[in-house]
Amino acid sequence: MVLLSNVIAFFIRNHLLTVVEGRASSQSHSINNNPPAISYSTGTGGWEHALVKANAFIARLNLTEKVSMVTGDNGPCIGNIAPIERLGFSGICMSDGPTAFNRADLVSIFPAGLTAAASWDRDLIYQRALALGSEFRAKGSHVGLGPVGGPLGRHPLGGRNWEGFSADPYLTGVAMASSVRGFHDAGVQSCSKHFIGNEQETQRSNTVFADGTNIEAVSSNIDDRTLHELYLWPFADAVKAGTTSIMCSYNRVNQTYACENSELLNGILKKELGFQGYVVSDWFATHSGVKSANAGLDMTMPGTIDVESLSAGTGLSYFGANLTTAVNNGSVPMTRLDDMVRRIMMPYYFLGQDKNFPTTDPSAMHVLAAQYGASLGVPEIPARDVRKDHAKIIRKLGAAGTVLLKNLNSTLPLKSPKNIGVFGNDAPDPTDGLTIISDGSFESETYGYDIGTLDVGGGSGTGRHSSLISPLSAIKSKAQEIGARVQYITSNSRLASNDFRSIFPTPDVCIVFLKTFASEGRDRTSFENDWNSTAVVNNVARKCPNTIVVTHSGGVNTMPWAKNPNVKAILAAHYPGQESGNSIVDILWGDVNPSGKLPYTISEHESDYDIPVTNLSSVTAVDEWQADFTEGLMIDYRHFDSKNITPLYEFGYGLSYTTFSLSSFSVSKLVKNPPAIPDASKAILPGGNPDLYSPLLTASTKVSNTGSLAGSTVVQLYISLPQDSVPAGTPLRVLRGFEKVALKPGESKDVKFTLTRRDVSYWDVIAQTWRIPRGEIKVSVGFSSRDLKGEGSVTVLSK
Ligand code: BGC
Repeated sequence: MVLLSNVIAFFIRNHLLTVVEGRASSQSHSINNNPPAISYSTGTGGWEHALVKANAFIARLNLTEKVSMVTGDNGPCIGNIAPIERLGFSGICMSDGPTAFNRADLVSIFPAGLTAAASWDRDLIYQRALALGSEFRAKGSHVGLGPVGGPLGRHPLGGRNWEGFSADPYLTGVAMASSVRGFHDAGVQSCSKHFIGNEQETQRSNTVFADGTNIEAVSSNIDDRTLHELYLWPFADAVKAGTTSIMCSYNRVNQTYACENSELLNGILKKELGFQGYVVSDWFATHSGVKSANAGLDMTMPGTIDVESLSAGTGLSYFGANLTTAVNNGSVPMTRLDDMVRRIMMPYYFLGQDKNFPTTDPSAMHVLAAQYGASLGVPEIPARDVRKDHAKIIRKLGAAGTVLLKNLNSTLPLKSPKNIGVFGNDAPDPTDGLTIISDGSFESETYGYDIGTLDVGGGSGTGRHSSLISPLSAIKSKAQEIGARVQYITSNSRLASNDFRSIFPTPDVCIVFLKTFASEGRDRTSFENDWNSTAVVNNVARKCPNTIVVTHSGGVNTMPWAKNPNVKAILAAHYPGQESGNSIVDILWGDVNPSGKLPYTISEHESDYDIPVTNLSSVTAVDEWQADFTEGLMIDYRHFDSKNITPLYEFGYGLSYTTFSLSSFSVSKLVKNPPAIPDASKAILPGGNPDLYSPLLTASTKVSNTGSLAGSTVVQLYISLPQDSVPAGTPLRVLRGFEKVALKPGESKDVKFTLTRRDVSYWDVIAQTWRIPRGEIKVSVGFSSRDLKGEGSVTVLSK
């Protein structure tokens, strides 16, 4: 029998061991000699009423209560702010994550962020967040720890890229804003994470060795322009959409830990972007008290138990009693502490969380106990079922986020095969159960499980399935409906050894399911799909001239078998969530016409991607982990374009069962002679200077369905700034608009794009503002970053 408190401690300890490879360090190195002043909230941008309520609440708090409002506590959720009963405040519950309500039963597993991005469908991305948000609310969680805008995807093998959206900041920004709105419309707070530069998992936190030596976390060394145009861009969109909180990340940025980096938190986030909500630390990412509080950290998590205190069990925190002392001795001004509480309470009132908010599902501790092999010694409490009909949107988005990469001889959609072969360890139900179990070390999750389909990644962003439709089971159901037989081999080792003796006669079509595991806590090590995938595909294709490959993956893969003539079709299905099998059957048999587009680039060769994860073999110096982002803006397709490397499948690419054309492209100016930089006298609103978002250009085109099936496509707009009047390192072209359009056969629709000042500017590091370059700006529309159909140019500012 295990006591509840032991389960909590056990849970925290396990979480701790998995997320922090060492003890928090008191040493950190700042390059800021004059850190920006504290940025105070004003409630501007729609939170004015919430500010009044928050101020009234603060006026009733004593110092200890104020401190408890900003310091995490024990409780049923992964993050807890303790109740203050005398004021009728029942506390704040925060839960993971961006893809599912994690560590809970009777919840839905949604398509991953990467899958959502591959749909390029704003509305579906919003619907996903709305449905997921409603599950958080119904479970009694005030804050959903998502969406993810960082990692952005600097590294194709980044372990958490699947939690976020796309390696392109514009697409990620749109997805962040849609997700923030979806969460808020469901009545839960969003927590846009991880701010910023958390592009690799390797050494994301500091390490303390047995002898006490401390090695600092990796420092992401990012220049100002790259920060603004790439990594900050999607966070600006999240702030503009009103995101209620931002999670600062584990890593250092330009030598200073992100959660105590005044330049980033006070300076860029709160002042430049006008962020009104609160900054919460990633779990155990706080490395100081006074310094962090004054730098802009508003809440520390998990708060009560720092690494140092675990063995002693004393529950020390960098905040807590230490913050009380710091306020009493004047190191942290009382006005700053008040602002921390105000920033935390404004979103709470803004979303009406003070009224009729559901209680926390009491099954939470039982689920946790089960997950850690413990028992509470009292009868289990069944979970509150919050799934509603979310399986529908999951199935729909799972299909919408599937990208058709190859389709020789119109192999797909399947006609009426009577003998279907299904191959690969990703096809069947998992033999180990429906939850990826961590034993306290993410190392155990390195390769994921062998037999069983993979619909979601590992780490805090995963979820416990109550239902999982595998491809094999869905194909069997379909086969029964159409009177076909299904033969299968799901052992990759048998397939890799070319043993097909159990198969006769050779199937009319062979569908191979491959998977690639990705998880928090580690970066991937292989570009190819896991489990001997290349041998598996080559052997099946040798046996079966009509082979189709489906990948379930958390990111970029190389596909050495892509040009094999027997591989007739390829589908990148990403992590589709719990309806995986149904989503892929919808595509395979043509009930859904594929419309997904790649949110990243698939290279022909591994070496075409040239930014390896920083991974040092033996480190002795405290500061040795340095990741210099010297490629600047040239990640993903921008890199391939700048080096003139032909990818296997480019960013934005994806086929359909029908065909589309574009015609009548035009671009025009909305404002005659706009100033080169935004009007600095404008009051900052959430998202930054509002002038940045004023429309300057409009573009239009006509898209037609020229085939014989109904379908959707994504019209994409790219701009090229005049290379001779922008600083070196400007990409050849960047995405600045997209529209998903559904068309019946023969139908045409007009598509209009509006481009804002920010869309056609670059970050001027000297003037410290966005600047429109002089000269001709090229605007192109097409169906991918390399399939451009219409091109025009416009001079916003003449030379
Ligand atoms: C992750 C966060 C997560 C937090 C709470 C950390 O390890 O980086 O994304 O929200 O844990 O589980």
